[in-house]
Amino acid sequence: MNHVLTADQFSRADLDRIMQRSTEMETIIKQGGSKMCDGKILGALFYEPSTRTRLSFETAMLRLGGNVISESDVTFSSQSKGEVIEDTIRIVGGYSDVITIRTKVKGEAKIAAHYSPVPILNGGDGSGEHPTQSLLDLYTIVKHHKIGSEKLKVAFVGDLKYGRTVHSLAKILRNYDGVTLDFVAPSVIQMPDEYIHESDIIHTDLTKEVLQTADVIYDTRMQKERFEDINQFNQVKNAFIFTPEMVSQMKPDATLMHPLPRVNEIMQRVDTLPQARYFEQALNGVPVRMSLIAEALAV
Ligand code: CP
Repeated sequence: MNHVLTADQFSRADLDRIMQRSTEMETIIKQGGSKMCDGKILGALFYEPSTRTRLSFETAMLRLGGNVISESDVTFSSQSKGEVIEDTIRIVGGYSDVITIRTKVKGEAKIAAHYSPVPILNGGDGSGEHPTQSLLDLYTIVKHHKIGSEKLKVAFVGDLKYGRTVHSLAKILRNYDGVTLDFVAPSVIQMPDEYIHESDIIHTDLTKEVLQTADVIYDTRMQKERFEDINQFNQVKNAFIFTPEMVSQMKPDATLMHPLPRVNEIMQRVDTLPQARYFEQALNGVPVRMSLIAEALAV
């Protein structure tokens, strides 16, 4: 089955194919959609809050001519009565042709895939991974940079410990020659060892050098909900706040990304600067998820 569970599963050939197909999906959107998934149903199971991932998956299925069944409030789910994920997945897999799921628990998308009769698309598993996000992140980078054929310095900034989007994107970027990764975070929320390679550069401060030389800066929210110690969160919550003055120091053709939602880590006055591409990034979720649904359903 064509599950999407981790960024590890993609080869460079897979990534090239998904990028190409996502470009074709943009054309399909402009033409008013397709009937490629006529008669097919997407089950969207979201047990953590989401705006972009759930709605872009649902939009993607609707643009492909399919339908959606959705569970987005755990208090109205039988999970609140103690149902285990294995049972939920067996049942929803019988109602639908493909499932996207977001859970609080790292690794739970893999468990879901084990019991599912239909493909599972991981929409974020706790502090683990967010592989479909990393594909739309890659799509955004591919649109603006010559990744793989020129040097590309990517700096990840913020909550790298709990930030599942950075875990997946760091893995994806290992497929491309010439990409170097800088990880910028206070020590207590630095990138976990399992995602770090020898060639990566670790910083505890966002230096002028990183700001001025990065081709891509990928900022993230401090994820209050995942901290075990609220005092630790309070100590780091304002560690990095992108101001217009800071972003103006970036290369003119650099890209400032963020998976969103943001809280206070990028000032709204940054939004109109040419480097700010996080809204475009979020919109890229629709064509990329259209291509993933189409691959999962082999249509
Ligand atoms: N980027 C992302 O996962 O956003 P949502 O939490 O709104 O889905």
